Amino acid sequence: MKLESDFLVIGSGIAGLSFALRIADTGTVSIVTKKETAESNTNYAQGGIASVMSSTDSFENHIEDTMKAGAYLCHRDTVEHVVHDGPERINELIEIGVQFTRSGKELDLGKEGGHSKNRIVHAADLTGKEIERALLDKVASHPNIKVYENHVTIDLITEHHLFTTKKENHDTIHCWGAYVLDINKNVVKTFIAKNTMLATGGAGHVYLHTTNPLIATGDGVAMAYRAGAAIANMEFIQFHPTTLFNSGSPSFLISEAVRGFGGILRNAQGEDFMLKYNPQGSLAPRDIVARAIDNELKRTGDEFVYLDVTHLHGEKIKEHFPNIYERCLKHGIDMTKDLIPVVPAAHYSCGGVVTDLQGKTSIKNLFACGEVSMTGLHGANRLASNSLLEAVVYSHDAAKYLKQNKDKNNGVPANIPDWDYSGTVNTEEWVLISHDRKEIQQVMWDYVGIVRSTHRLARAQRRINLIQEEVKDFYKRTKVSEGLIELRNLACVADLIIRSAIARKESRGLHYNTDYNFLNDVEWLKDTLIT
Ligand code: FAD
Ligand code: SIN
Repeated sequence: MKLESDFLVIGSGIAGLSFALRIADTGTVSIVTKKETAESNTNYAQGGIASVMSSTDSFENHIEDTMKAGAYLCHRDTVEHVVHDGPERINELIEIGVQFTRSGKELDLGKEGGHSKNRIVHAADLTGKEIERALLDKVASHPNIKVYENHVTIDLITEHHLFTTKKENHDTIHCWGAYVLDINKNVVKTFIAKNTMLATGGAGHVYLHTTNPLIATGDGVAMAYRAGAAIANMEFIQFHPTTLFNSGSPSFLISEAVRGFGGILRNAQGEDFMLKYNPQGSLAPRDIVARAIDNELKRTGDEFVYLDVTHLHGEKIKEHFPNIYERCLKHGIDMTKDLIPVVPAAHYSCGGVVTDLQGKTSIKNLFACGEVSMTGLHGANRLASNSLLEAVVYSHDAAKYLKQNKDKNNGVPANIPDWDYSGTVNTEEWVLISHDRKEIQQVMWDYVGIVRSTHRLARAQRRINLIQEEVKDFYKRTKVSEGLIELRNLACVADLIIRSAIARKESRGLHYNTDYNFLNDVEWLKDTLIT
């Protein structure tokens, strides 16, 4: 079955929805999304969006904080661009109806780790939910946008699907849409489009413990990699320092804004241990805090450290963090009186599909935006609350580029084939999928986590290679399903992370290897590129 539109958007988080709304006046838009529309990392964002919105702050401050958190691997041109455009993009969100928290008439600006000023625009501690609500309201009423829920993209359509002989050498790869599994009908549909926006978000579920919802299986990076796109900086996986201990899967996040509000990390002895590691204490950048917690846990043998807000005004805590307060209560913790047990968990992928300043990837007519992309903003460690900002800035830029260059697109070839089911059967071996998935998550957690070593990375690589071979074989002979699509992508992304981690022979930002526990600016102040 073929479905044609001018633009195909894969993903309905902040990146996909913002792009769709910006481009829809110039053509028809299909949005495909894995589950229900709201289910995305965006929907769970707590802290807020970083932007210079106060006269006591400056673009220079935000730029320097971003560069410093990113261990100076950030691309300065990208950082300057995103930071300068921030206020305009925030005002647009307000115009479409996002209700940010205010202090009187002014926006209430929170603080998070690594920020030298209060600049986090937020909607209490449910910022993502509020943004997603407003964007989905707008999308629902737009006549040019059609949303397909429960549609999992399998692969991007490129020259590879058109030509069967390997002899042909294509210098330039084009993207003309994607093959997508309609989960309810169990059929693969061919979505054809002149331009495709990849906005599939993160890859948290490559790891055993993550803050990400189940949709975050790295599909976009894996699909783009298979299609031949340039991928970079996959070793920089951000572990959020504070998730509620034993809160299930996904791990429940205790926003960094809680520390920005005055919360202090303590070990079992009650010591404010972060001061031993960094002068910014509990509000040091995330890579430093996560590593310090990891070290404390290894040193003491404890299972968690504590986040302490008991010294702060109880009513104010409840007012600022109603969602976190309620969730802690459900776990028997009254955070105004009790210490909160916390542990780190995988949170954000700083690497991804390489884009330029307009969101263009190395594949023609394929754009990427949001967490799936590597724009150069985050470098070796993302500054808190810079990702929602990046998504709104780049969705704007990609739409602007496409509007200005619409005559340059040569359209799509007439001979795009439908999905080929031949040689595949329904099998009963579904248990293999869940076993392999768990094994990937465990291997990545044990060997490719906060602290790495060459020996552990090699061990992880051997195991992931084996799983990849098994998955490849299974995929060839089995009818596609959501579980199999995700497993194939998880294995691919795990491999990309390990290869990038092995390649980087230094420690920078989120990548810490005990065998190279030093910065090497001479050789390694550059992206880890995989093509
Ligand atoms: P997402 O919002 O994750 O959307 C991805 C979309 O792609 C989803 O709709 C998904 O279903 C769809 N999708 C994925 N694969 C496929 C496929 N194969 N086929 C079809 N559809 C697919 N960042 C901040 O800046 N500030 C914060 O306060 C903040 N808090 C956070 C709190 C939590 C708990 C988490 C998990 C993240 C937080 N982040 C925060 C990070 C931020 O939320 C994400 O980086 C950002 O929302 C990503 O937006 P996105 O649109 O790129 O992806
Ligand atoms: C948080 O609220 O701590 C998450 C912020 C982020 O990931 O940027």
